[in-house]
Amino acid sequence: MKLLEALPPDGKDRGLALSLDPQRIPAHIAIIMDGNGRWAKRRGLPRFAGHRAGVQMVRSVVEDCSRLGVHALTLYAFSAENWKRPRPEVDMLWRLLRFYLRHELEDLQRNNIRLQSSGRVEALPQRVYEELRAVERATARNTGMCLNLAINYSSRNELVDAVNALVDQARIEGRLDSLVVDEEMISKRLYTAGLPEPDLLIRTSGEMRISNFLLWQIAYAELYVTDTLWPDFNREELLRAILEFQRRERRFGGIAETVTEPADLTVAADFPDEETEEIAVSSQ
Ligand code: FPP
Repeated sequence: MKLLEALPPDGKDRGLALSLDPQRIPAHIAIIMDGNGRWAKRRGLPRFAGHRAGVQMVRSVVEDCSRLGVHALTLYAFSAENWKRPRPEVDMLWRLLRFYLRHELEDLQRNNIRLQSSGRVEALPQRVYEELRAVERATARNTGMCLNLAINYSSRNELVDAVNALVDQARIEGRLDSLVVDEEMISKRLYTAGLPEPDLLIRTSGEMRISNFLLWQIAYAELYVTDTLWPDFNREELLRAILEFQRRERRFGGIAETVTEPADLTVAADFPDEETEEIAVSSQ
């Protein structure tokens, strides 16, 4: 694990990193970075200061995830609903994004990270859009972690876009009348096509909401909500989230591996039909 090489020999983070199972690092981590405003307010600072501190944490989490061997990291940078914020705050977020793109390109290249975006990015201010596309192009051949920035993102929009793409294609190919859509067809048209589905969804600042984020893709993700505000979500917090993920038992709708099938089947066979019917009626 490359992260260990970057850690001081006697620090707390090293102990945490050593207790991780390197074979079960989540392939895809998605993060709702929340709490910048509250972080600033608690310090008597303007909201902008919280977003600026948030960008510093983006840099560190991106590097750490890459060193841990995470394949994809999706960060919710700007939701389609964030346009409702006051204009100066929205403008500031675009300025910070441009700053990040400009200053991080070298670091992304050094760490072999590919940057891509998810969302209706064509609607971004022209200069932001162009710089985003330029960094995407410049890092397109990198083979390490994919940093997926969700910008002007809405999961419902994403699903609508995917379905419309399917309908358009079928219309062009003259087979609209017989179009039958399945899960794979939708997955392939999502912005995240080609990425593994998130194993771990982290939300900072304690809110128990999904906020229109990756609704399709997180079907089986483990959820981790921490009260820590995003600008305080440091390496220790990240390692703790992954450790908690590794403690969970993931069943994907199945049963725990330790349950033996024959015993269960015997019980089911002995179960009287009338009782089954009674339960069915009373649970309606
Ligand atoms: C939520 O905090 C955060 C955002 C809406 C923006 C997240 C943006 C960044 C971390 C900086 C830019 C990102 C990149 C990738 C360079 P909030 O303002 O809703 O906080 P609050 O709920 O405490 O008010």
